[in-house]
Amino acid sequence: MSGLFIYTLSQLLRRPFLMCDAQFSSYTFIYGSAILCLPRQINIMSPSARKWIGLWLIAGCIMVFAQVIIGGVTRLTGSGLSITKWDIVVGAIPPLTESSWAVEFTKYQQTPQYQQINQDMSLSEFKFIYFWEFFHRNNARLIGFVFFIGLGIFVLKGWVNKDLALRLAFTLIWGVLIATLGWIMVASGLEDRPYVSPIKLSIHLTTALIILANLVWLTLYVMRDRKDYGIYAPKQKRMALAVMILLFIQLFLGGILSGTKAGLAYPTWPDMNGQWVPSALTSMPVRWEGILYYDAGAHWEQTLIQFVHRCTAYILVIVIIWFFFQLRGLSRDRVFNTGVKLFPLAVLLQATIGVITVLHCVGHVPVFWGVLHQAGAMLLLTNTTFIYYHLQASKS
Ligand code: HEM
Repeated sequence: MSGLFIYTLSQLLRRPFLMCDAQFSSYTFIYGSAILCLPRQINIMSPSARKWIGLWLIAGCIMVFAQVIIGGVTRLTGSGLSITKWDIVVGAIPPLTESSWAVEFTKYQQTPQYQQINQDMSLSEFKFIYFWEFFHRNNARLIGFVFFIGLGIFVLKGWVNKDLALRLAFTLIWGVLIATLGWIMVASGLEDRPYVSPIKLSIHLTTALIILANLVWLTLYVMRDRKDYGIYAPKQKRMALAVMILLFIQLFLGGILSGTKAGLAYPTWPDMNGQWVPSALTSMPVRWEGILYYDAGAHWEQTLIQFVHRCTAYILVIVIIWFFFQLRGLSRDRVFNTGVKLFPLAVLLQATIGVITVLHCVGHVPVFWGVLHQAGAMLLLTNTTFIYYHLQASKS
């Protein structure tokens, strides 16, 4: 009976996996089925199980955090289109001889980016951009490796109950989705345009941020039992959800802002090139397709996206500071209260880094500030997830 159930489920689960590498998907599938066979009553809550699974999940959070940062450096150094194929297994080995480097460079020379922008690039410059993209992809492989090894050990030890297993299965499927979307994004810049699609870039970034929030949530789920804090606050719980949604809108807008290089259009603050509401919003032709395809000469969508990103940032700052006053004194739990105190600081810090980034966007986006702004976004997301996790104990 259980065999039939798993077979039926496998047929359902197989569908999304078919999109990616067949070998990888079958391993994924076998692991997925194994997880679903687990008995429900395994006790995950022994202190030792909590400690080791918690540390493994924290390592996962740090690795995903690093992965987003490496992705940011890859984008800001113009390295993202240097590897022209996607091979999960063979792609883990870099070119090792001069002749294999020459092959890779020749492939890159066929791309629109080389032909339209980088025609005078030397082999050593190519090696530099190749490094960042390679580093980004191999760190993803490392994350997958650490995930499978840890999961295998904990399952064998009998520490993973069905509830946690299903949550981890979601993480796994989501991870495969991110990698697939990453390749879809890269492929959009290898066809006839030398730039990736802004919307695809943003979807890739946002899905990566969702997995970070998911891992933070799982870490808390394993390490902080509900009985430790027990906060009953249904109103605040709904507010936390609203803040989370607003934050994700802002993160998505940030990704489109990066993809359209809209920071370069208005490198001033608090006004936008001398205007509070830029006249380009109404005077320039509306060009929604600019969100699908980057166009260096376009201006309307850059204006719109930067204006909306700024406005959403101000709303977030106000809402989070107001929310802080709603959360203060709600609980005696020291850990929760520390998260509450950090919340307004995190949003103010993030907005400040955003302002500094925009002020440095003269001619090019500064790598350091761009990456710091990304890191700030992830810290704010971690903080929001932390608050929401603690409030979800209450019943609305
Ligand atoms: C307070 C909440 C804010 C959040 C959560 C946020 C989040 C983000 C995110 C996730 C990105 C995409 C990063 C990337 O793809 O590398 C981004 C990009 C950007 N944001 Fe923000 N941001 C905020 C506030 C601001 C403010 C106040 C400004 C300026 C007034 C600003 C200016 C920028 C610029 C210029 C970029 C593009 C940087 C690039 O091209 O790499 N942000 N933001």
